[in-house]
Amino acid sequence: MEAIKRPAPAKINLALDILGPRPDGYHEMRMVMQTVSLCDTVTLSEGEAGFTLDTDGDFLPAGEKTLEEQAAESFFRELGRPCPPLSVGLEKRTPAYAGLGGGSADVAALLRLLRERYAPELSTEVLERIGLTVGSDMPFCVRGGTVLAEGRGEILTDLPPLPPCWLAICKPDFSLPTGEMFAKVRGRIFQSRPDIDGMARALGEGRLEGVAKRLYNVFEEVLPAETREEIQGIKTAMRCCGALNAAMSGSGPAVFGLFQREEEAMAAAESLGTWCGQTFTARPVGQLDGPAV
Ligand code: C5P
Repeated sequence: MEAIKRPAPAKINLALDILGPRPDGYHEMRMVMQTVSLCDTVTLSEGEAGFTLDTDGDFLPAGEKTLEEQAAESFFRELGRPCPPLSVGLEKRTPAYAGLGGGSADVAALLRLLRERYAPELSTEVLERIGLTVGSDMPFCVRGGTVLAEGRGEILTDLPPLPPCWLAICKPDFSLPTGEMFAKVRGRIFQSRPDIDGMARALGEGRLEGVAKRLYNVFEEVLPAETREEIQGIKTAMRCCGALNAAMSGSGPAVFGLFQREEEAMAAAESLGTWCGQTFTARPVGQLDGPAV
């Protein structure tokens, strides 16, 4: 089998609200999610034996199953066929543990590759359901585009696309583990909530400013004290460089700014890159359905 290679685009949360804890230990979410052009690349080929994962030349040792292997096994279980020997390669660009869905994007891209190669008739809904077996944001990462995600993150409603714009994305040099951020939310009453219905209306009317003024992430209220200032500083710097607005993505710590003009987003990325971790520019990306993205 010839190797096939596809992009695995990251995501940002234009709005993120947490409605409360659920009996299953997860939280009830309401989020506006957006696929962006910052991406890893995933390559699939048939291997010699078992499942191998090569991340930028580092072969992972055998032992605990990676999310990629778990997803491949779920995929073939769904087809009722044995999992063939597979070799998966990742070229990483999206920072990990950043709130940009980098890890989930890789697994979602692998699921799309498996569909393309072994079961082109499989619907995106089934692929999203397989994805959910390995992570709450997987269904969105499989589908992509501009989407309202509810429930654990698996109840998806397509929204009109984000009007053309540019993003600057900054990943500070620290991490905020997702589980710990959710633990801080337990029992908390948030001071402010995002206006998600207003954001959906602004998307429907194609008003970028209406979307930008509603960017909001409740996780910013529970940031550890030592990181709050840096996140605020990045947001302020984005606005000083011309961003319509800025917010943290997911459980952080990556921050994005929304810009009307490419030059402004590039200037923001360049300026932030001198004092604050890794920076990127990106554009919004539409739905990822079908093999060629
Ligand atoms: O589903 P996933 O494995 O990506 O979730 C990682 C962790 O984030 C969970 O173990 C849980 O602590 C938390 N989480 C949550 N509610 C969600 C999604 C994730 O509490 N809707």
